[in-house]
Order: sequence, then structure tokens, then C-alpha cells
Amino acid sequence: MKKVNINNIKAFKSKEKISMITAYDALMAKLFDDVVDIILVGDSLSMSFGGDDDTLGISLEEMIYHTKAVCKGVKNALVVCDMPFGSYIDKKSALKNAAKIYKQTKADAVKLEGGIEKVDIIKELCKNSIAVMGHIGLKPQFVRAEGGYKIKGKNEEEIEKLLKDAKALEEAGVFCIVLEGVKAEAAKEITKSIAVPTIGIGSGKDTDGQVLVWSDMLGFFDEFKPKFVKRYLNGAELVRKSVKEYVKDVKNGNFPSEEYWY
Ligand code: KIV
Repeated sequence: MKKVNINNIKAFKSKEKISMITAYDALMAKLFDDVVDIILVGDSLSMSFGGDDDTLGISLEEMIYHTKAVCKGVKNALVVCDMPFGSYIDKKSALKNAAKIYKQTKADAVKLEGGIEKVDIIKELCKNSIAVMGHIGLKPQFVRAEGGYKIKGKNEEEIEKLLKDAKALEEAGVFCIVLEGVKAEAAKEITKSIAVPTIGIGSGKDTDGQVLVWSDMLGFFDEFKPKFVKRYLNGAELVRKSVKEYVKDVKNGNFPSEEYWY
């Protein structure tokens, strides 16, 4: 298998669906690498593994640490690193921080949230040879400013805004756009109206690809199941059962048996 690059991802448009999954360390990245097209080091890391209530607290240094680890586990997939909240407030800081990600990790691209208002920043990154994935619709980094996680594309006005955002991002140079929490019909319309691929999460079946957070789709996070998550494994249940067995074995002296000692 050859290393996936951004041109391969662009060429998937209307030919083959794109698969993307998150990973935050080398162990899981290695397991996903030879099957998925893109591995996203998402800032969802701060919630799913850091125990935070939202994604706003994670630092650039933490994102870099996890992206470095993921890249060590990856030979084939395209690796995308989320730019954390506050790391792209203007062109200058965005370029400095994205360059830091490129210099200190082997990430192939960065992802940032926002529409038309981020166009100058995206242009600045692209002009300086940094590949950018866009992210519109429900934008988790806007949770406090918007007073919650808001599904988008519910009415004509919202659809118009999303279409404008998607076209502006495409023109600014993104190679791909995540559509999160966008009503399925709106996601279909956006996907049809731009030449770069869209990757959906909770946005229906007509986007050019899909993304899920690995701990959601493998059932390691089981406190609740958001509507957009399909669970392919009952990870949490298997872990609890296995750890219980281990503890029982330790308590009753069944572990270790001779095969496990030197
Ligand atoms: O941080 C993340 O995992 C994401 C995906 C849900 C798209 O941005």
C-alpha cells in the first residue's frame, strides 16, 4: 500500500468514499493504518481521553505530542492534526502554529474550524505550503460562543450560509471539508456544489466520506451514544469483563501460572 497524499483524497471525489477515523497514539494508529484513508488527530482527544467537557482546553503542545505518536504508528494513511482552539486567531499566529505542527510532527495536513471568516487564515497557510482541511456545520470549538452544539442546515438561511462557507473555503485552497452535524439534505447540496471532497459526521450518506471518533465507534466510550455513532464493538464491556477476570485470577492465585514466569 502506498502512502495516501492530499491529491489521492481529492481524486476520491465522486469515485470512492473516503474513510476517516480519529487516533491519538501510535498503538491505535497502527491498528487503523492499513485500512483507513485518513487518520485525524482530533481535538476530541481532550474530551474522549482528557476527560474535559469540551475541546477548548487542549494546547498546541499536547496536540503535537499526540500527533507525533500517531505518525510513528502510520505508514499509509494521511495524517491530519487539528489546530486547537486559540491557535489560529489571526494569520500570523496561525502560520506560526501550523508551521510548528509541520516542523515537529509528520502530519500531512492541519484542520481548522470555521467558514468565510477564516478565509484569510486558510489562504495564508496554503500560500506557505501547508495543506488545510476545513470544518463547518457544528463546530465544537464554538460551543461556548454558540451556547451549545448546534445542528446546522435546518432552514434556507442556514443552508445559504453553509454553501457560502464551503465555496469560500474551497476557493481559499482547502483540500477537503468536514461537514459535522449538518442536515442530510443540506450536506448533499454542499457536496454537489464544490469540487473538493466533503467528509461527514452525522450529516447523512451523500457526503464524499465519513469520520467517527474511534472510542465512540468501538464502544470504549459508553456513557451515552450520540445519534450519529454506529458502534462496531462493545469495547467498554469487553474491557470491564477482562479486567474483572484478571483481578479474580490475581486474588485467587490463578495468575500467574508457571507459563508466565521466568
Ligand atoms: O476532533 C475531532 O475528532 C473532529 C471530528 C469529530 C471531525 O473534529
